[in-house]
Amino acid sequence: MTNTSWTRQHVLSLADFTVAEYDTVLQTAASFKEVLSRRTKKVPTLQGQVVTNLFFEPSTRTRSSFEIAAKRLSADTLNFTASSSSLTKGETILDTAKTYLALGTDLMVIRHREAGVPQAIATEMDRLGVKVGVLNAGDGQHEHPSQALLDLFTICTLLDRDRPRLELLSGKKIAIVGDILHSRVARSNIWSLTASGAEVHLAASPTLLPHLFADYIKNEIHKNPILNRQLFLHWQIEPALEKADFVMTLRLQKERMTQHLLPSLREYHQLFGIKRDRLQLCQPHVKILHPGPVNRGVEISSDLMDDPNFSLIQEQVTSGVAVRMALLYLMGSGKA
Ligand code: NCD
Repeated sequence: MTNTSWTRQHVLSLADFTVAEYDTVLQTAASFKEVLSRRTKKVPTLQGQVVTNLFFEPSTRTRSSFEIAAKRLSADTLNFTASSSSLTKGETILDTAKTYLALGTDLMVIRHREAGVPQAIATEMDRLGVKVGVLNAGDGQHEHPSQALLDLFTICTLLDRDRPRLELLSGKKIAIVGDILHSRVARSNIWSLTASGAEVHLAASPTLLPHLFADYIKNEIHKNPILNRQLFLHWQIEPALEKADFVMTLRLQKERMTQHLLPSLREYHQLFGIKRDRLQLCQPHVKILHPGPVNRGVEISSDLMDDPNFSLIQEQVTSGVAVRMALLYLMGSGKA
């Protein structure tokens, strides 16, 4: 297994990921995918290490995926759930993290509804001089690196099962459609997909891709010549779908909406939903991704979601385990 190019202690954002790092994650995940296809799906790599899931926000996939990934690597796992914790007695987040440090945690996987919490905990761990790796499992509207990496792995594996690598995406067209404003998944995917040389097209209504936000992205484009070449913004779905190789649709994050941003769910589906007749605009081999959880019949029609000819949604969940094993392995093996 190759991990010679890996020096990163924390994975908080993909903004500064290098092509070599993407390829290391993809190749390592491919090795673990092979492990997961064996009869004995466990390796002793992280034996004796403790992986702690600190989830301050609800999660099904990400949390279970990190847990099974850690177990497949033979790590011991601790699971923290905010609602049943001492947070309810007034303990601060940093004190909670330090408690888990004292319990012997080597790797912390953190999800929080506020952007920046994983970074704050990582900074505190560095200040304390402890070699604990912090993995951002979704912070507010900021980033969700492991989701974007599993999306990347799902796509690249489809293009070359044995040797998934970033360059396979060069020249492909990828549409990201839906609630971009609230999506940390979109923000991480913008970094990875543009780094691959794919053409990335964002499409949403002006309320979900507001001009202020578009200006911010354009500013990033200005600073980053790679983005400049690869990122396109649309306020209608059709130009984004036209000849697309992959379509990533995003959940409407109603829990983050503080004002009415949609006419009605039915009208939203009419305007921005991924449905069968719209796919005619795309390449015939188009595949659809969704990070889940899905609002069936809203961002994607129910029948398409379940159609294995188009939908990669279940595959994304399965791939997520191999990708998270790769991340935990790369971050944790330096300590072993
Ligand atoms: C995403 C998240 O939590 O950001 N889901 C996930 O991790 N699988 C997207 C979402 O909640 O819509």
